[in-house]
Amino acid sequence: MEDKRAQWGSKLGFVLAAAGSAVGLGNIWKFPGKAFEGGGGAFLLLYLIIVPLVGMPAMLSELSIGRASQSNVVDAFGKLGHRGYTWVGWVSWLSAFIITSYYSHVGGWVLRYAVAYATQSQTVYADPLGYFYRMLGYDPVAESTSFPLVAIVFAAVFIAVCALIIIRGVEGGIERFNKIGMPALFVLLLILLVRAVTLPGSAEGLRYLFSLDLSKLSFQTLLTALSQAFYSLSLGMSIMVTYGSYLPSSEDMPKNTLLVCVMDTLVAMIAGFIIIPAVFATLGPEGVGKGGGFAFVSLAGVFQQMPGGAVFGLLFYLLLLFAALTSTISLIEGIVVFLTERYHWKRTPTTVCVCAILFLIGCLYTCSQAAYPIHGVWFDFANGLSFPAFGDAMEFLTDRVMIPIAALGSCIFVGWTWKPSAAIDEIQRDGIRFRLTKTFSFLIRFLVPAVILVIFAVSMFTGTTLS
Ligand code: PHE
Repeated sequence: MEDKRAQWGSKLGFVLAAAGSAVGLGNIWKFPGKAFEGGGGAFLLLYLIIVPLVGMPAMLSELSIGRASQSNVVDAFGKLGHRGYTWVGWVSWLSAFIITSYYSHVGGWVLRYAVAYATQSQTVYADPLGYFYRMLGYDPVAESTSFPLVAIVFAAVFIAVCALIIIRGVEGGIERFNKIGMPALFVLLLILLVRAVTLPGSAEGLRYLFSLDLSKLSFQTLLTALSQAFYSLSLGMSIMVTYGSYLPSSEDMPKNTLLVCVMDTLVAMIAGFIIIPAVFATLGPEGVGKGGGFAFVSLAGVFQQMPGGAVFGLLFYLLLLFAALTSTISLIEGIVVFLTERYHWKRTPTTVCVCAILFLIGCLYTCSQAAYPIHGVWFDFANGLSFPAFGDAMEFLTDRVMIPIAALGSCIFVGWTWKPSAAIDEIQRDGIRFRLTKTFSFLIRFLVPAVILVIFAVSMFTGTTLS
């Protein structure tokens, strides 16, 4: 006899958990930087077209695979009678594994910054870049390197907290945590939004976000917007398959999908409207950086020049911490549930072991940032064989190869093998009304796979980063 699968305790629980997974580091530091590069308004517009046309059908498909199969991601395809697609599950599972190992370390850095703003904001202000590098084990003044103890210790704490929440289980842990964390995140965002748009000099940033410079609409911008949407909505990693499998059949999946996508997009937009005007106001347009440096270094200048900056700094990193926690939890949950179901391992020791392994792999990521010359191997047709930093190689592998392949696999599965009609039957079980059946079938059979294929091919041939 199989154990009864866990289910969400309430409708809100699922929506918040799925939104919690989607809303992560991607929304808050990746999105604003990309919106800036992509020309502000032009990028926002593209993103707003892509989410409903590509992101929503892909998410709905993943949720229906999960609910119909009532299974973890690796076994889901076999349970639906198509063992031939099991590899899609493996690719998703593995990319979740690799992503979590570094994502959780970045979560640790965020925790470090929350503590830093609470206790020593002046030290951060004095030398923002130096502070960031020192955390990672590199002293730019002495030009010496050392073991990045601070970053590693905070990463360990971050992962331990995630493990504790996961051990409590779906309803007790994840759901309860999200019920507090997600609304808190929204409130924090709104406070920061008000603060940012009322800073003197922020108007120029707002103008940039509302301007529609069509000459900025290039193929590259399209590509960036597409990949950002996939990453941000947690697609192609089968998180949504796992979460869908906990959904009772009375749930309206299209409505839930809509809610999650709207929340995720809203958070990304608000983050853009916080960060870009704030940086314009304090550092000028040259100050808008991206990636890790943006969230950790450039923003120090913003907080320093705000009245009550340390408090806003602390709030900001707490917010990022919530976002990172809920996303990491969703990733670990997907990894653990497969191991407990397939191999009948116990949940608690499995979670502890998985987290320990993730932490150790992540140490290589953190160490390769600045402290030690640890390299990975990478190949693309534009640059041939190269040996980027180990951390970069991990991100290339997942973002450029594994996510697109898994996402393509599951939408081809729904579009052509399992058939959209089977997904629609699952969606409409228990008499749920779904009016867009024709649109859904068209998108999932033609538009979504074509788009993913193009992203994948272009990124392999031009070496473009996907996230
Ligand atoms: N969607 C999350 C973000 O925006 C990242 C994530 C990707 C989480 C895939 C889970 C699975 O940061």
